[in-house]
Amino acid sequence: MNSDRGSFASQLGVILASAGSAVGLGNIWRFPTEVGQGGGAAFILIYMAFIFLFAMPVMLSEFVIGRSARRNAIGAFQQLSPGKPWIMAGIMGVLGGFLVLSFYSVVAGWTLNYTIQSAAGQLQGLQTMDNGQQTTDFAQVFNAFVSDPWKPIVYLAAFLLLTHLVVARGIQHGIEHYSKLMMPMLLVIIVLLVGFSLTMPGAKDGIRFLLKPNLNAVTSDVVLSAMGQAFFSLSVGIGCLITYSSYFSKETRLVKSAMNVCIIDTMVAVLSGFIIFPTVFSVGIAPDAGPGLVFITLPNVFLLTFSKMPLVGYAFSLLFYVLLLLAALTSSISMHEICTAFISEHFSKSRRTAATIVTVVCLVLGSFCSLSFGPWQDVTIFGHGIFGLFDFTVTTFLMPLGGLLMTLFVGWYLDRRLVEQQLTNDGALSVRLMRPLLFLIRWVAPIGILVIFFNEIIGIFI
Ligand code: PHE
Repeated sequence: MNSDRGSFASQLGVILASAGSAVGLGNIWRFPTEVGQGGGAAFILIYMAFIFLFAMPVMLSEFVIGRSARRNAIGAFQQLSPGKPWIMAGIMGVLGGFLVLSFYSVVAGWTLNYTIQSAAGQLQGLQTMDNGQQTTDFAQVFNAFVSDPWKPIVYLAAFLLLTHLVVARGIQHGIEHYSKLMMPMLLVIIVLLVGFSLTMPGAKDGIRFLLKPNLNAVTSDVVLSAMGQAFFSLSVGIGCLITYSSYFSKETRLVKSAMNVCIIDTMVAVLSGFIIFPTVFSVGIAPDAGPGLVFITLPNVFLLTFSKMPLVGYAFSLLFYVLLLLAALTSSISMHEICTAFISEHFSKSRRTAATIVTVVCLVLGSFCSLSFGPWQDVTIFGHGIFGLFDFTVTTFLMPLGGLLMTLFVGWYLDRRLVEQQLTNDGALSVRLMRPLLFLIRWVAPIGILVIFFNEIIGIFI
């Protein structure tokens, strides 16, 4: 059945592609920002609990759905529950795929720009602004860049094109091949950067901030954003992993793969904290700088390092932005694939045609997001700019709701035997944790998500 859909060739490919989807801007850009604003270690502990109690069960549910149906995110529900409203979960997923790829690629485009600038040595010295003025004020440089009507869109297009080229080549030659190439590079760069960062003078304060919980900073908002962050970081709830697992082989061990991906993703997030906070503290900048952290705060750190140790400063900044770019690319590929797989299967289009449609649609939507930092700054919908609206719709709404539906689907609707067959590879594996896992999927994850989600929705509308 569906044997021409393509599949991953090896278990390593499965882990690296799925971990590639998980590890992204969410880990290196969003996580440290949230840790900075959410009380350091206190946030990290809550986040980890959510990863293993809520997000991991959703991931397993997606794996069960994807591998048993071997279809795209919408087709999978049509196959497993024909004519039933469960298909809504798939529709929300594909819609979410378009939205997330659009706003994500804007930030990835900024990253591409910063990578090129640091390679050219521009981040270490004076920058030329649009008006010809020279400055080292990185906040000004960043704001001038993102509010430009054209430049960020050019970088957005370039980044989408890179994503497109990988996805268009298919599962084994595209996604698997490039994940196997990029993920090891990414891990090596992280280790190098942690090494750099820990040797910075004053690094101790940053480490203390990361390891000492500040319980006062933990509000109910922080708890909500920890859940949003856990879902976003593991790419769960919008059918991305239904799509990827539809290319897993019969032998792929679902529980083991899910555990590995969760561990790699959490490790990378925490290590990014160890890269960013010691460096930020070593130059005495506040850690709660918000989304500008990696584009404004860090260039200041690089500049200072550069003035003392030019080679280290140069290598540090270049490696950091290459890391961010690789992480963004392995994730954007997986978002693109949700939509490409659906269009290609549902409308019987070739992979290339489907991928082109997705790229063009996301270029248009992404341009809107990009313009919302500049000429369209004043356009707000429900109190959000366009970029903010996309981000909010996906992370606060579609992901938790999708995750809830998927755990309910697998925990309560699907035949229990089918679920156990998937988790044990038709009885070949004895999964010791079967009972606790099913308990997480049936009870803990749905109830937890429901409570937090409704709290949030009530908070928004009251
Ligand atoms: N998990 C990715 C990150 O951390 C983002 C992502 C979300 C990827 C949804 C795919 C689907 O950056």
